[in-house]
Amino acid sequence: MDLIIRHASLPPGLSTHKEAVDIGIEAGRIVAVEPRLAASAAEEIDAAGCLVSPPFVDPHFHMDATLSYGLPRVNASGTLLEGIALWGELKPELTQDALIERALQYCDWAVARGLLAIRSHVDVCDPRLLAVEALLEVKRRVAPYLDLQLVAFPQDGVLRSPGAFDNLKRAIALGVDVVGGIPHFERTMADGAESVRMLCEYAAEQGLRVDMHCDESDDPLSRHIETLAAETQRLGLHGRVTGSHLTSMHSMDNYYVSKLLPLMRESGVAAIANPLINITLQGRSDTYPKRRGMTRVPEMMAAGINVAFGHDCVMDPWYSLGSGDMLEVAHMGLHVAQMTGIEAMHACFEAVTVNAARILGLEGYGIAPGCVADCVVLDARNPVEAIRLRAARLAVIRRGKVVARSPADRATLALEGRPEQIDFKLQRG
Ligand code: FE2
Repeated sequence: MDLIIRHASLPPGLSTHKEAVDIGIEAGRIVAVEPRLAASAAEEIDAAGCLVSPPFVDPHFHMDATLSYGLPRVNASGTLLEGIALWGELKPELTQDALIERALQYCDWAVARGLLAIRSHVDVCDPRLLAVEALLEVKRRVAPYLDLQLVAFPQDGVLRSPGAFDNLKRAIALGVDVVGGIPHFERTMADGAESVRMLCEYAAEQGLRVDMHCDESDDPLSRHIETLAAETQRLGLHGRVTGSHLTSMHSMDNYYVSKLLPLMRESGVAAIANPLINITLQGRSDTYPKRRGMTRVPEMMAAGINVAFGHDCVMDPWYSLGSGDMLEVAHMGLHVAQMTGIEAMHACFEAVTVNAARILGLEGYGIAPGCVADCVVLDARNPVEAIRLRAARLAVIRRGKVVARSPADRATLALEGRPEQIDFKLQRG
């Protein structure tokens, strides 16, 4: 074999083995997962009982804006509206080279943190399609170490922005993977519903997936998710459609939600919450009590809807923080959704791994014979500890090759009472 990872603990949802297992890898695929694998390999990694997870997956990101913090100025108020105004100021100044350079830098950060698949929206409202061409180039360049899936995103509204639908179709023709939309940003509820219909029909014709920014608002009457689910059913797009953000659901009437969730489940529409961004951007016009603004994550999960967490933004006009760490995203999601039960905490880990992978439709994702050999060795014994510590990524493996390593956090290990893994003593005053 090419590589064996010994003594790996697997996330509970991914393994029936109670004990640590060895993972055998050959020609970029996992070929064996069993305790005490009797084989040898060119390279061996001793995970020493640490958690080995399939890689993190970010199902919702904006790579055309990332790492532009401070360009041309910072967002002084930190609000969504000033962020949109800032993006408008920045767009005419964007160059393809700068876009590519920032995106590649972010992909380096992502890989170092075991984030090996990203679905990024890309704004198609600029008729030059500068950002589209830049991110398609980035997709080609990072393909050996990161799966980048692109969504044609009409940021200013596919009906509201002249020429946006044609631009979107041109972006798809160039190789963008998924049809996006932003119905709540159209001028009227009727226009929003019409945009959902035409974009879903176009996706059905083209055989594509759909992922719309949907109801990213505190308005409880923003109900485009209902139209999105109904169109998904009408057009037979089951399992290929996602509603992103869905923050209005936080403020919706409970009876209405009790009808909405079964419709979403029956149509197989998935949901993406973006906890870091929506806890900071929503509820901004509230006094007190202030709404959290994140969508109803545990309720959707209980209804059988696939829910994932996205990072959305890192150091851009809307969010000045972030580092590509999906454990930070899971940590925030867990807190905002009050998902502190043991099963709920495991579900938060799945929201940045398996659930997100299902939304992207990643082939061969998982830790089992036949899967692609992509994984991350975390300096933690289980998913809950990984979230709690935002654990170091000891090794990141892509197609059977180690692509990044990080040292263990020695101070954390000492405090965790795992002195066998550290070679220094704590100096106590
Ligand atoms: Fe977004």
